[in-house]
Amino acid sequence: MSTKIQPISVDEIESILILDRLCFGGLWSIDSYRRELTNDNSHFLGILVDKTLEPELNGLIGFGCFWAILDEAHITLLGIHPQYQRQGLGQLLLIALLDKARTIEMARATLEVRASNQGAIDLYEKYRFQIVGRRKKYYQDNDEDGVIMWRGGLQHPGNAPDRIDRWQSG
Ligand SMILES: CC(C)(COP(=O)(O)OP(=O)(O)OC[C@H]1O[C@@H](n2cnc3c(N)ncnc32)[C@H](O)[C@@H]1OP(=O)(O)O)[C@@H](O)C(=O)NCCC(=O)NCCS
Repeated sequence: MSTKIQPISVDEIESILILDRLCFGGLWSIDSYRRELTNDNSHFLGILVDKTLEPELNGLIGFGCFWAILDEAHITLLGIHPQYQRQGLGQLLLIALLDKARTIEMARATLEVRASNQGAIDLYEKYRFQIVGRRKKYYQDNDEDGVIMWRGGLQHPGNAPDRIDRWQSG
């Protein structure tokens, strides 16, 4: 299966909303996505397959986003269509987000994840994010804690695009 990762625009908002429901059960509203997709500090990437494989989604099977705040990339979203999970696509998208953050001279990256979301925590730890704190009962739907993760060294030479193991070593 061939995939490509590219910036996505507000034109894809219908597919984004469908994917949001599939990945997160309805995390953000259409207005939140519209704000996200039109904000200059926000970097939104999609992972796409051939449209004939997923016509309803216009080929969009994953998405990720970060906000550039000063020299920090705040990863706000990372989701892969359930039918395409555990095939390495989440990590490809994370690498693409980190590459983009590096290109625009961010120094570190941070994110927040549900304490029970061990798969995502494993993914971030694989790419050298560390747990630095916990927000008690941060998620209001079930009073779940939020785990705060962080990684520095975005400008480290070991993370240059020509390094095959970038983001896992540098
Ligand atoms: C989290 C998510 C993005 C991972 O995407 P994915 O494409 O399934 O993950 P990958 O196949 O790229 O996995 C890469 C690494 O992540 C970890 N990982 C991912 N899913 C995992 C799971 N269910 N259990 C354990 N480890 C997991 C593993 O370390 C894996 O490396 P490995 O294959 O060498 O073991 C995806 O499961 C998803 O969209 N989940 C729903 C939305 C979500 O929770 N997003 C994160 C919110 S912060």
